[in-house]
Amino acid sequence: MRALADFVYTFSWRLPGRRWRRLLAFAEAEAESALELRCAAAATSDPERAALYLKHAADEARHAEILQRRATLARGSAVSLPRRGHARLFERFGEPVFIAYVHRGERRGRRQFEAHVRFFERRDPALAAALKSILADERRHESYTAELLAGPLADGAPAARRRARRVDLGDRWRRVGSALTGPLFAVLMLLLYVLAAPLALGARGDRAGWRTHD
Ligand SMILES: [Fe+2]
Ligand SMILES: [Fe+2]
Repeated sequence: MRALADFVYTFSWRLPGRRWRRLLAFAEAEAESALELRCAAAATSDPERAALYLKHAADEARHAEILQRRATLARGSAVSLPRRGHARLFERFGEPVFIAYVHRGERRGRRQFEAHVRFFERRDPALAAALKSILADERRHESYTAELLAGPLADGAPAARRRARRVDLGDRWRRVGSALTGPLFAVLMLLLYVLAAPLALGARGDRAGWRTHD
């Protein structure tokens, strides 16, 4: 089962030209998380949690730099991070939902990074080492957010987790939808072309028959 999960997670690494793009996409996600966490640090009423969020934001910003550097190496020329905004999740949903959402993302990220480390361990040890250093932080992020949900943010944590799950699933669905738009369009066009081929041939036959009647 793990082998299948690894294959699915790492499939796109095998496609030509995908490695640097994927690393850059990871870097973008890390930079976006750093922004979210800086906003959360400014918005929370608790100074201890503000310090935790700032530390977490610094980790994510460092991950973005590491991944951007690895993307540059994989491409063989410099890549830059596009300036992106963030979803202002803390503002929109409040602290418990925000932390439940972050926890879900960290857990998923940790699992995926574990699969990526396994994939690159022999293929590209330097990249595997960089991913491993990030993985150690992701494990810490996953556990401190769980502790917050079990401790200071425990009030209403089950409802917050449910809400975070809905928000997360909605986000992921939108991301899959936008990622599929291009390929899906190409597949539909190909299908249309294949289905239309007999009609086109028939039309040509009709025209030919027409001419013979002329
Ligand atoms: Fe990260
Ligand atoms: Fe993280």
